[in-house]
Amino acid sequence: MVGIKTITSYDTILVLDFGAQYARLIARRIRELGVYSEIVPYNITLEEIKERSPKGLILSGGPASVYAENALTVDPALFESGIPILGICYGMQLMAKVLMGNVKHTGVSEYGKAQLEVTNSSALFETLPKAQQVWMSHTDSVETLPAGFKLVASTQTSPVAAMEDIERRLAGVQFHPEVVHSPFGKQILKNFLSKVCDAKPNWTMSSFIEESLDIIKEQIGETKAICALSGGIDSATAALLVHKVIGPNLNCIFVDHGLLRKEEAKKVEDIFAKHFQLNLKTVHCEERFLAKLKGVLDPEKKRKIIGNEFIKVFEEEAEKIEGAEYLIQGTLYPDVIESGGSNESAVIKTHHNVGGLPETMNLKLVEPLRLLFKDEVRRVATELGLPEELVHRQPFPGPGLAVRIIGEVTAERLDILREADAIVVDEIKKAGLYRQIWQSFAILPAIKSVGVMGDTRTYNYPIVVRAVNSEDAMTADWVRLPNEVLERISSRIINEVKQVNRVAYDISSKPPSTIEWE
Ligand code: XMP
Repeated sequence: MVGIKTITSYDTILVLDFGAQYARLIARRIRELGVYSEIVPYNITLEEIKERSPKGLILSGGPASVYAENALTVDPALFESGIPILGICYGMQLMAKVLMGNVKHTGVSEYGKAQLEVTNSSALFETLPKAQQVWMSHTDSVETLPAGFKLVASTQTSPVAAMEDIERRLAGVQFHPEVVHSPFGKQILKNFLSKVCDAKPNWTMSSFIEESLDIIKEQIGETKAICALSGGIDSATAALLVHKVIGPNLNCIFVDHGLLRKEEAKKVEDIFAKHFQLNLKTVHCEERFLAKLKGVLDPEKKRKIIGNEFIKVFEEEAEKIEGAEYLIQGTLYPDVIESGGSNESAVIKTHHNVGGLPETMNLKLVEPLRLLFKDEVRRVATELGLPEELVHRQPFPGPGLAVRIIGEVTAERLDILREADAIVVDEIKKAGLYRQIWQSFAILPAIKSVGVMGDTRTYNYPIVVRAVNSEDAMTADWVRLPNEVLERISSRIINEVKQVNRVAYDISSKPPSTIEWE
């Protein structure tokens, strides 16, 4: 696989993952501070670590007790390696235990906000308030410091809430500096980076782009590559990076399955073919998809049909491109972590992505974004000149409007939903809310109801409006849209979309509902 090549030119912090809920957040925070950070399995060997020449290590938290049977641990030699190390929560307890301190198994948990008192001079807390709020989530506690360490801070429940051995450049905190409920947490991490690790903040998107271009040049050279553009930011950014290196040798394929939003296909062509001059082929196959979806009501069947058909179309088109050896995909770092690429206790989210292409294609996969978080992709996309409309587009599912049409997908029902959806998005944008909301869209149920327009009785479809806020789509809360916005959406949809006589607003959160209706 290409694009996983170790980045060595940046000062790097490796986060050893002990199954933490927050490992990803730690890496993100470090990167927000301008230092490159990657999550690696807790059992990475010292040799492998040294190969990466990290400026420092962070031992993450974890759900278990250091005394649990089969508790995850590290090679004690790590602490003698001279590499600066910060232990967080479980990471600190492990550090204490391995270095012969004592960890107490109290059975009493400390969870939530706590008041921290900094009681000693310290690198981690330099220039920070002596009293500050922190976020705790633990049961075991360090009781006796390992030799060479000094006590730095305490809370009422945790006498040893932070410890340091600056000579050996080792430190531990019982609380979670990576979460927002520790308001000085980011500053503590920054102190660790600058005062303990001497790490320079040289992780910038322009340097990432520069380095990626070199890697792509070296790997793809003059060979042809194929990319499935979806209209989303990930595939677009991956394609633009590769295009910068191989130009017309990059063949982009855009499958217009007819399940897209209003004018979406035209926008993709305008941006990529006209503006960026990518070698783009749009495959218009609305009829083909509609024929396959005819009479199909079951949501899972619909998804499968669309996914399979998408792959078939793509394969047919890819075969026509002679000499192509590479397939470009916009896989991101969270996907890499979730698919077990690097972590111990990955939470697997079912990825029902239409863009997921088969391995049987005999193409070598190139994933130029596989080390980036979404916000970093947005910054790269902006630097590459992708229009703001695309950079900040809300997520849109691969099977498109088909999962927002309950029951049979027909050309007529697609048109109704497309018009209604365009109004929802337009009004949300006009109200200045588009970028604050995770997703806002329309759904077309499979029922009709009675209404009255003028003197005439109507019997038409309702439209359901859905707007949710979310951080990662795993959970979501419905948005309390202002009444005026809801009113405008409702009145415009009923007036402008024929066959709709009623608008409802979905006030359910996830769980127990899902974001999409199918
Ligand atoms: P649900 O409906 O499961 O959606 O709460 C969670 C998030 O995933 C998106 N979604 C999809 N994205 N292909 C995708 O690329 C799909 O098949 C798909 N189904 C749902 C949905 O829009 C939401 O952001």
